[in-house]
Amino acid sequence: MERVLLLGTGPTSVQLAVILKKYAYCDEVGIVGRASVRSEGFFSALERNENRIQAHIQNQKDENMQGECSIDQVFCGYETIKGTWDTLILAVTTDAYMDVLQQISTEIVRNVKCIVLISPTFGSNFLVKSFFHRLQLNVEVISFSTYIGDTRWMTDNPSNHVLTTAIKKKVFIGSTSNSTKTIDRLDRLCQQVGITLEKMGSPIEAETRNISLYVHPPLFMNPFSLKAIFGESDVTKYVYKLFPEGPITQKLISDLRTHWQEIMNILNKIGIEEINLLKFMIDDNYPVRLESISRHDIESFPQLQVIHQEYLLYIRYTALLIDPFSKPSKEGKYFDFSAVPIRQMFVNREGELDIPRMPKEDYYRIKIIQGIAQYLGLSSPTIDKFVETYETKLKEVTNADSEQKLSNAFVIQEFRDDVQMICQEIEQYVN
Ligand SMILES: NC(=O)c1ccc[n+]([C@@H]2O[C@H](COP(=O)([O-])OP(=O)(O)OC[C@H]3O[C@@H](n4cnc5c(N)ncnc54)[C@H](OP(=O)(O)O)[C@@H]3O)[C@@H](O)[C@H]2O)c1
Repeated sequence: MERVLLLGTGPTSVQLAVILKKYAYCDEVGIVGRASVRSEGFFSALERNENRIQAHIQNQKDENMQGECSIDQVFCGYETIKGTWDTLILAVTTDAYMDVLQQISTEIVRNVKCIVLISPTFGSNFLVKSFFHRLQLNVEVISFSTYIGDTRWMTDNPSNHVLTTAIKKKVFIGSTSNSTKTIDRLDRLCQQVGITLEKMGSPIEAETRNISLYVHPPLFMNPFSLKAIFGESDVTKYVYKLFPEGPITQKLISDLRTHWQEIMNILNKIGIEEINLLKFMIDDNYPVRLESISRHDIESFPQLQVIHQEYLLYIRYTALLIDPFSKPSKEGKYFDFSAVPIRQMFVNREGELDIPRMPKEDYYRIKIIQGIAQYLGLSSPTIDKFVETYETKLKEVTNADSEQKLSNAFVIQEFRDDVQMICQEIEQYVN
């Protein structure tokens, strides 16, 4: 981690650059991104400010994340990268990993010793490893379970200023290498900003510690949420509320459980330890009061009967409708924790109708998991149902008689190349 190049020009890259400069003692930190309508604001702000960037915070407790620094080198276009970079940090959306890596010249790629995936999905590490294997290069590939916080542009537009509104208490990490040198440096970096880094035995284990993997498909790929996303509902609907304010029903909880079970079947087949979903949700993500769910129920969740598991998952969502640790008002009202609106489709900067990040990014994730399940010969009826429900909706919107130009997010895709590369690596991993 001496010469570190951040790939991506989103808010996460800016925040990461600030903490790398502040705490990691890198010789040089660079940023590269594609030229696009969105990145134009970012590149021009850097040019106007002599490559200076700033990260602000919303809560004083996150003060170590804030700072200002100069980026040593900025490249517009992945094909324009120059110099030697020993570490690449991939901070682009997961579905773009191959697109981005393939644009970088082989000369640059050959000097890379380590690549860090900031927000991968299940299988991303295998994918990136396969990319380097095909070039006969042995590169350390590190996966975080998820991005360490919540970071957005300071104003609505991309620029050189970001705002971090929250940071995670704990994230997970795994590497393809036995040497712990880079992981130790990342651990020290996380410690500086107050985040616990839990080291897993393998990258895929870190990739499975991502709550979105388990909850986004059931919460978004159902007729109720899709209606809200695609503008067929005239009142606001909320992601984490019970029906009819939100999508959470008896059926959704049942799908959430079987979806988790189908992912566990994949882990089992690859030889990876299963995850206690309820424990992960409560202990590693959002705690509930002990009065709501007992410790015994949390610990014994995987061994319980289906109906008991569904009951506990339903309680978990009801226990978090309000923030159970917030201070109530005089009237006894707690913070409305579940009031996260379902975002609707919107017109993007290119003037095309686009789909919000959730479920746009979940589509890639679930198609990859579906591809892995198929490759391993496992049936995955719930996953298949989510995919079908979502794709049917995409077709419906595409076929609607409209003049509006649609973004790529409306294209039904198979991601065959990515699935094939991932499965090749799984084959080697299993044997
Ligand atoms: N921000 C957060 O708080 C947060 C929290 C959790 C997880 N994450 C995840 O972390 C990742 C990065 O987040 P971010 O907020 O920095 O994201 P972002 O602003 O959406 O985009 C990051 C970068 O990805 C690039 N990109 C997207 N599609 C691409 C493609 N097909 N080819 C090449 N480049 C492409 C974007 O380029 P353009 O600007 O040209 O589109 C941009 O440079 C995302 O996967 C996000 O879901 C972020």
